Amino acid sequence: MKSEFGLFGLGVMGKSLSRNLAQKGFEISVFNREEKGTEEDVAINFKKAHKELETAQAYSDIEAFVNSLQTPRRIMLMVNAGKITDLVIEDLIPFLSDGDILIDGGNSNYLKTKDRYDYLKSKQINFIGVGVSGGEQGALIGPSIMPGGNKETYNLIKPYLESIAAKDANNLPCCTYIGEEGSGHFVKMVHNGIEYVEMQLLAEVYTILKAMGNNPDEIANILESWKPEADSYLLGITIDILRKKDGDDWLVNKIVDKAGNKGTGNWTTIATAQLGAPSTLIASALFARYTSFYKEERLLASENFNINPSSLDLDIQDVLNAYQFARIINHYQGIKLISEAGRAYNWELNLSEIARIWTNGCIIKSDFMVELIPILKTDDNILKHATIINKLKALKPSINKVVSQCILNELTASCFSESVNFLNAYTTSNSSANIIQAQRDYFGAHTYQRIDDDDTGKFHHTNWN
Ligand code: 6PG
Repeated sequence: MKSEFGLFGLGVMGKSLSRNLAQKGFEISVFNREEKGTEEDVAINFKKAHKELETAQAYSDIEAFVNSLQTPRRIMLMVNAGKITDLVIEDLIPFLSDGDILIDGGNSNYLKTKDRYDYLKSKQINFIGVGVSGGEQGALIGPSIMPGGNKETYNLIKPYLESIAAKDANNLPCCTYIGEEGSGHFVKMVHNGIEYVEMQLLAEVYTILKAMGNNPDEIANILESWKPEADSYLLGITIDILRKKDGDDWLVNKIVDKAGNKGTGNWTTIATAQLGAPSTLIASALFARYTSFYKEERLLASENFNINPSSLDLDIQDVLNAYQFARIINHYQGIKLISEAGRAYNWELNLSEIARIWTNGCIIKSDFMVELIPILKTDDNILKHATIINKLKALKPSINKVVSQCILNELTASCFSESVNFLNAYTTSNSSANIIQAQRDYFGAHTYQRIDDDDTGKFHHTNWN
């Protein structure tokens, strides 16, 4: 009997998704190359190790794998994003038939997804780019899924993706058709950008609470007490992390302070610059990771500049308020970036639905995300909404205090600082951009508009000297 769905690549995510599909009762085929040198049949061993895979077909031969599938074939690629995706596509093409569907479930760059879509279309193969969030555990018990591409093609894989996805509070799948081209991967990329900021904010909270004299257990207890107001998946795992002991010490104290990355934060920062959207927190969070990587230079600089952060004098409530303030700005900026991309690429995006599928299964799921679902039904700009305005107004004195204290005590909190700077800039009705315009006109005759000219489309030039 032929299988209805194929999974190509049995890395951490591929294995979890295969098991998830099999647990839902789908007939699947899985493929993995034999491990070089060991001749270990990864696919067969994987099948043997899990009861739910009893009826699954396991292959290490591409042709046999493809031929084991019903047509049109549905093949989900779970391979490392980048060059490997293209190599795998080339390996599969000779065995595919018109109308078959390749689904890329990796963290691929959205521009590459569009190129792959066009290339495969010329070969009569359908291509869907799918963002999958939730890590190993999420993929197994239900991830959040962001599919983009042709809608009719999507409908042919929809039942599979919807049944393996996490469920929201109303038992609806955390999977929705995002839009054309690479929109699914774009939305996943921004998900990761928001994730970078949420992680960085928690790291900054740790910096501040530590400087207030708390040890990791005490910080974990403080964060635990924030759950009723600020619960999120990332808050929860940070509490677990802080409590983890290694011998007599806490494990976090032994982890080298150099933050890695796999590229999605970098792409989000490039996209925000290209689209002219000021997602400043995402850039700050990314650059905080890059700065952390200059470990040797930082060690030298800490001696050269002799900076000794002193202890902070703050109320815990102010730290929580500052954290909540910065998270609102983060979500505003991330969602705005998605909305700008929708406009630029003519994707018809439903922002409220995107927030909904981010309420479970994914890394940025949070109570705040649930609050955003109705808000995003009316506007892409959450900062126009009365409840958000009132919240930010109430939280602002705390973030002013926390950021000032950090600066006066020589502590770095780049996303906290950037969030308050952003709101200060965003709420300035008469900014200093007039100076920039005059400077541009002075040296480059780039022209400027005048506030006393009724013709708003008219540009003026002055002979400044
Ligand atoms: C998710 C995660 C996942 C992964 C990223 C982040 O949604 O499940 O975002 O995609 O953790 O690769 O990676 P970096 O922090 O290494 O860039």
